[in-house]
Amino acid sequence: MAAVSEDLHQRVERYRVRVEAALDRFLPSASQPPVRLHEAMRYAVLGPGKRVRPVLCYLTGEAVGVEPVRLDGPAAAIEIIHAYSLVHDDLPAMDDDDLRRGRPTTHRAFDEATAILAGDALQVLAFEILATDPAMVESAAARLAVIRVLAAASGTGGMAGGQAIDLAAVGGRLSLAEVEEMHRRKTGALIEASVLMAADSRPGLPAERRNALARYAAALGLSFQIVDDLLDVEGEADVVGKPVRADAASDKPTFPAMAGVAAAHARVDALCAESLDALGGFGPEADGLRELARYVATRRH
Ligand code: IPE
Ligand code: IPE
Ligand code: MG
Ligand code: MG
Ligand code: MG
Repeated sequence: MAAVSEDLHQRVERYRVRVEAALDRFLPSASQPPVRLHEAMRYAVLGPGKRVRPVLCYLTGEAVGVEPVRLDGPAAAIEIIHAYSLVHDDLPAMDDDDLRRGRPTTHRAFDEATAILAGDALQVLAFEILATDPAMVESAAARLAVIRVLAAASGTGGMAGGQAIDLAAVGGRLSLAEVEEMHRRKTGALIEASVLMAADSRPGLPAERRNALARYAAALGLSFQIVDDLLDVEGEADVVGKPVRADAASDKPTFPAMAGVAAAHARVDALCAESLDALGGFGPEADGLRELARYVATRRH
């Protein structure tokens, strides 16, 4: 994340290291059987991802006053769900991609059956962490709220539902409103959950604060996927770390395909402004979230 201020850059770096240590701790050891499954799970999660969702979770913690130690569980859980979604997204039955995070996709490095099982096991591991991590929350009610947020974001109203819309729309045309709805579900929902799990780890957070954070995250999540679509059109595989021009080759209904590249950039700028506007009631404690919105709008990978 180079386009951010030096101070935030260091904090983000600390959060990345922090969540990677938590992930290493929560994932099953590769020395335990079934070894191949555990190796695939670790490969899928511990590869060089940007960790945007965990960082977002910790930065929301800064904005609402939740200590990082209490967010290690939610931060790891969201990254694990995200990693599982990528493993399944890359399968031959879905996007059929060979490159992820600059390395062979999980089904290429292992095999398809192992990749499917790794995704299955990662999904439940995320919820096991949220149900059991002792450092997480003070009350059972807060724990339940956090679990509910991640479950809703992962299911048919969120990531899995968005992926179904994506696959059903291949080769067809969607209206821009339909593309945005697909993006809000398949990608936006997990980005929103990254923010809301941290917000719900702070019992007593005023409803207007939570609503403002939800608005921030909704705009950020939508823009994140539009930028992802743009990187497929404008990026290079060695920088992006995954295949480019793949969406057009598969006739995917992306935002730039439906509206054009210039309109996609304009939408990203407008969404960045909306994210910043949503944080209007926060002071410097939300500066990390503000910088992250600017980073997402300008990222190159
Ligand atoms: C890629 O997500 C898939 C989308 C939902 C757009 P990221 O761009 O966050 O991928 P990693 O985690 O850094 O590899
Ligand atoms: C992925 O969208 C969204 C997921 C929920 C995994 P894409 O299919 O565009 O993501 P990439 O480009 O393969 O990372
Ligand atoms: Mg896809
Ligand atoms: Mg894909
Ligand atoms: Mg993409």
